[in-house]
Amino acid sequence: TRPKVFVTRRVPVRGIDLLKDKFVVSQWDREDRIPREELLRGVKGVDALFCLLTDKIDKDVLDAAGPQLKTICPQLKTICTMSVGYEHIDLTECKKRNIPVGFTPDVLTNATAELTMSLLLATSRRLKEAMTAVEGGSWGTWNPIWMLGHGLDGATVGIVGLGRIGLAVAKCLLPFGVSRIVYSGNSQSENEQEVNAEFVSFDYLLENSDFILGCCSLTANNIGLFNAEAFSKMKTSAIFVNTSRGGLVNQDDLYNALKSGKIAGAGLDVTTPEPLPTDSPLLTLNNCLVLPHIGSATEKARSAMSELTARNILAVFENKEMPSRLNIQ
Ligand code: GLV
Ligand code: GLV
Repeated sequence: TRPKVFVTRRVPVRGIDLLKDKFVVSQWDREDRIPREELLRGVKGVDALFCLLTDKIDKDVLDAAGPQLKTICPQLKTICTMSVGYEHIDLTECKKRNIPVGFTPDVLTNATAELTMSLLLATSRRLKEAMTAVEGGSWGTWNPIWMLGHGLDGATVGIVGLGRIGLAVAKCLLPFGVSRIVYSGNSQSENEQEVNAEFVSFDYLLENSDFILGCCSLTANNIGLFNAEAFSKMKTSAIFVNTSRGGLVNQDDLYNALKSGKIAGAGLDVTTPEPLPTDSPLLTLNNCLVLPHIGSATEKARSAMSELTARNILAVFENKEMPSRLNIQ
């Protein structure tokens, strides 16, 4: 009998097509987020779980999946998320039960770097204000001293986290004539020379960058990293862009920094919560551009993510190495 896989959302078909031959596929075949009860019901008795970053995969989900023999889960054999981020999965529980976890790095790197650049260019050149001016009739005439922004030419860009995505962003930045790329993180990157980036302390980065980009993954150690203290160290002309996770930011502090002119602007593809409520004060600001977590939203990247998730699952049942397995410490 074929093993069973549960897919928690409608996803690009490529992954499903790969799974269909080998698995009995059940799916929350809708575009809305799966309700918790449906998730708990859906995982019952399955051999593999194909999930998303919007699904909280905790002990209760693992318990619901099937009978547990002490610490080993004989039923659920793998959890594979169609995302590069994995903070929604309780890795400690997975490790205890020997459940390998797959994710989808690399295939979304260029798409996410591209969106980071979009936010950077849009905020640095004040596109939200400019569009509002056109639509609202406050565009008077071509004006030599109106709507001036800070371009990338000659700028110092600070990248918090020079991982796969941070590095790809740095490569995109070079042709814009940035004068300096600095980065901070847990450790020095072996790729820094490729983009001429300098490893600096977080404080140094905050104080010296014209643009500050959140490109690191969210961990227990960096929740709320961008708080009032961090914003107070930035230049008043600084632009903050975040395409990693909303949890990195204390949003009240960001609002205050933007409102009071402590920093010049922000571009966010990620927020807390998601979706951001329409009455969020951030949305009242002309110098804050918010996007609905679309970093990897290209046809190519999403299709590749769906495929890689399926290939991660397939590998487990073919007793092969997963193409992208999370290394659980
Ligand atoms: C997107 O945010 C992802 O983690 O893939
Ligand atoms: C701008 O449009 C210029 O001609 O300077």
